[in-house]
Amino acid sequence: MRISFCCADSKPEPWLDGLRAALPQAEISLWESGAPPADYAVVWAPPQQFFDEQNQLRAAFNIGAGVDALLKLRLPPGTQLVRLEDAGMSVQMAEYVCHALIRHFREFDAYEADARQGQWSFRKPRLRADWPVGIMGLGVLGKRVAKAVSGFEFPVLGWSRSQHAIEGMRCFAGGGQLDDFLSASKVLICLLPLTPDTRDILNRRNLSRLQPGGYVINVARGAHLVDEDLLQLLDSGHLAGATLDVFRTEPLPTEHPFWRHPKVLVTPHTSARTLRDETIAQIAGKIVAMEQGQTVAGVVDLGRGY
Ligand code: NAP
Ligand code: GLV
Repeated sequence: MRISFCCADSKPEPWLDGLRAALPQAEISLWESGAPPADYAVVWAPPQQFFDEQNQLRAAFNIGAGVDALLKLRLPPGTQLVRLEDAGMSVQMAEYVCHALIRHFREFDAYEADARQGQWSFRKPRLRADWPVGIMGLGVLGKRVAKAVSGFEFPVLGWSRSQHAIEGMRCFAGGGQLDDFLSASKVLICLLPLTPDTRDILNRRNLSRLQPGGYVINVARGAHLVDEDLLQLLDSGHLAGATLDVFRTEPLPTEHPFWRHPKVLVTPHTSARTLRDETIAQIAGKIVAMEQGQTVAGVVDLGRGY
């Protein structure tokens, strides 16, 4: 069995060593043009030339959860695309989102400013019942975030494509229930995959429906958010702030207004990083299962786009 590794921005040696240790029976190499056809690929942001040449792949394993960038490429017919499922990302996402939520809810930025002035001053406690948290996307990451947020006793709502029933939270589904979901939410967390249906979903129309003083946390993809619409709603006062981890152009260009906006906190696409050991273990387990003729979870539905 041959496995080809092609990942932009990753030092290949530790990945190759880890994959070789996990799959000693396989021949594993760093892809280069003209390499013999492989059975499986482990990829992140490969060039189109990779799939044009490696056209006999049984499966391509993405070392991330989101496959939007890969779906812009022409995949060889018959190749399954497999995404990462959790692999240590969901707990990171839960801690990032809870930190952003609590930092805003408990006004830590204001306390920090006071402390720098040597001021011992209290703010009126907020009622968490007035801070319903709406989560867009109830997949692997959204569900883990919902559980963590519920642990702090915020009211939690969720919105997904198909109907879910999750204890302790109100679940909404589909375009028909989007407005009800938004108007019942004050904090909005985006954990959707980027697909033609979800691109630009954080737009003026939808963000205006959040309760006044709303807060936006986008940890999914930059193209979910219409930047100008968010800026307008922050400046009009309808929204109180935003924590943004993902952007239309990454790295976020130095001249972008998000960097300097007093109500926006920018982080560099770091809310849930790919962890090498967990990722290798998950991919190796799936390759072994596929070799034994089993079906594996996490296969992308190319029609749905996630
Ligand atoms: P997932 O398990 O595939 O879950 C996707 C969820 O979105 C599902 O609940 C799905 O609904 C829902 N959804 C999809 N299309 C929808 C639509 N048109 N309307 C309403 N709901 C829709 O994905 P995941 O593993 O949780 O990851 C989610 C995303 O997080 C990834 O695609 C990636 O873009 C992003 N991400 C970001 C980082 C970071 O560091 N910032 C790290 C990892 C992942 P159903 O349940 O009905 O299918
Ligand atoms: C990171 O953004 C991922 O999709 O895993």
